[in-house]
Amino acid sequence: MEIEIFSTKKEASKRAFDIFSEALADGATVFGLATGSTPVDLYDYITASDLDFSQATALNLDEYYGLAADHPQSYATFMKENLFNQKPFKETFIPNGLATDVTAEENRYNEVIAAHPIDLQILGIGQNGHIGFNEPGASRDVETHLVELAPSTIEANARFFDHIEDVPTKAYSMGLASIMKSKKILLLAFGEAKADAVKAMVEGPITPDVPASILQEHDNVIVLVDDAAGSKLL
Ligand code: F6R
Repeated sequence: MEIEIFSTKKEASKRAFDIFSEALADGATVFGLATGSTPVDLYDYITASDLDFSQATALNLDEYYGLAADHPQSYATFMKENLFNQKPFKETFIPNGLATDVTAEENRYNEVIAAHPIDLQILGIGQNGHIGFNEPGASRDVETHLVELAPSTIEANARFFDHIEDVPTKAYSMGLASIMKSKKILLLAFGEAKADAVKAMVEGPITPDVPASILQEHDNVIVLVDDAAGSKLL
């Protein structure tokens, strides 16, 4: 794991943009993407750039269960508003939040990933150490699956909804096994609230209690943090 610490989120996001651009220039065609607050500055840099993704594929990590793609809080909507409307990709994939045949949807998304091996995966991290929606206790062997969101995740994501009761309690998420197949992983973490999770991911034991700690076993991971998120690192 390579760790880089920046004074501000903006500087770290610029570095993330440079890594993204290099990957594209080096022939990467499949990008694994995340939603949430963390990658927003990176996506702003991408939309303001002249990078061309018309031959590239995007695969998102996760989608809320029960939300239609055109729901204002769906991750499909988030990706359109923050990236795809301004910067079209050749094709984009995200789990179908309305799929009620869970096994069929898990299999469908696993086939999408198998057909489009991820060259560069962008990750955020939850305050509880989750990546994607692989909450503490998640098995390292699982691919796409329907996840019961942890109460702390529901609380953290309530800021995007009018009422906490509106936050879906489940989501389809790539599993740790899916994420670990990515050729390169770029994890971003900003703000003091992420400091404990970052420390546990980087310096702690590899344990299901901190799903992100499995990344210590991947041989091509770059972690970019701001001072606040990196403040507890030794
Ligand atoms: C989002 C995702 C999550 C977030 C994490 C951090 O697609 O998979 O793991 O990256 O919850 O969220 P923010 O960036 O909002 O702090």
